[in-house]
Amino acid sequence: MTLKGKKILLGLTGGVAAYKAAELARGLVKAGADVRVAMTKSATKFITPTTLQALTGQEVWTDLWDKRVPDAMGHIELSRDRDLIIVAPASANFMAKVAQGLADDLLSSLVLARRCPLLLAPAMNVEMWQSAATQRNAKTLAADGVLLAGPAAGDQACGETGMGRMLEPGQIVALVESGFQPKPLAGRKVLVTAGPTEEAIDPVRVITNSSSGKMGYAVARAAREAGASVMLVSGPVALAAPEGVKRVSVRSAAQMFDAVKANLNGCSVFISVAAVADFRPKQASKQKIKKGERQSMMLEMERNPDILAWVAAQKKAPFCVGFAAESENLARNAKEKRKKKGIPLLAANLAQEALGSDDNAITLYDDRGAHALGRGPKLEQARKLVAHVVSMLKKQEKR
Ligand code: C5P
Repeated sequence: MTLKGKKILLGLTGGVAAYKAAELARGLVKAGADVRVAMTKSATKFITPTTLQALTGQEVWTDLWDKRVPDAMGHIELSRDRDLIIVAPASANFMAKVAQGLADDLLSSLVLARRCPLLLAPAMNVEMWQSAATQRNAKTLAADGVLLAGPAAGDQACGETGMGRMLEPGQIVALVESGFQPKPLAGRKVLVTAGPTEEAIDPVRVITNSSSGKMGYAVARAAREAGASVMLVSGPVALAAPEGVKRVSVRSAAQMFDAVKANLNGCSVFISVAAVADFRPKQASKQKIKKGERQSMMLEMERNPDILAWVAAQKKAPFCVGFAAESENLARNAKEKRKKKGIPLLAANLAQEALGSDDNAITLYDDRGAHALGRGPKLEQARKLVAHVVSMLKKQEKR
């Protein structure tokens, strides 16, 4: 229930993507939000108010002169108590109206009279999106502080392909959830490593591990939600970078080390979630190794640099957080590892529970002892971890 207590006005304008707004309304309600819907006349040609009324459990508003609002001040009343207005889909015409401050129907009047933030999810034909007028309007809206979510590129209902698709409802819900998180890390730079590394044996073979990157990506997202400027150094994974997070993709531990060094300047927090290979083949073969007649083969390995220990040992080291995935003796190994690496905070989890899974059960170890975060989705755990980092940073700065 990440949006519990949040009051949202969801506006729909005329576009085929209006059908996705039903899913969006459902997602927002599921996340705990109070969702009031206002539709333009054209939106009602694509989807009925009844559908949205059923999904939100509230009356739907379409008319500026609606008699249900007692003092005929619908254009103000219906948005006054809201924490956020989302218009999805936002047509090219609606963007133009908001950019110009026009208020000739209920939704545009509510938008103009708002006191809360406005998020628009544009959806339109690729040519309409790319037109000089729409691009000019998008710039004006951004300069006015309106949040533009999307559009995305892809197939369009009109049969064309390109920019103009509305973001998926799940993406919009995620953006809204992120927007409502407190911002204690605003103005700070956070560096996160994530995923596995790949150590080359020859041009086609590698040694790697089964880290999915999900925990590291959740940590990067949580730090971003907390207002930080986040750089994510990622090993090879099949995940999209979280919204607003800058990503550098690497393969080997050596490349990860280089990328960390290159991005460390000005960092206040370093969170090392990556499952970095401890060893790499001493000499990667330039050519693909042939099996020939032999029944076994030796691979000589050498140690990789310990990136986290190196960062922690720097003179102006950022606040360092390590991760430990253990298969046994979690508490003892975690305490030892925190000391050995010289870091203030270590997040420990059982490898067999954490690897690849969507859930996790982290225990944090710091100078005051152990703090169990309970079991839950990785993003939830990541948010708790970031909150713990924030409270430790605050204490450190008070000293
Ligand atoms: O020593 P161990 O590999 O168990 O330590 C895990 C922690 O150290 C993780 O935070 C991991 O990202 C980091 N690490 C590293 N470089 C290595 C090995 C581990 O930064 N070569």
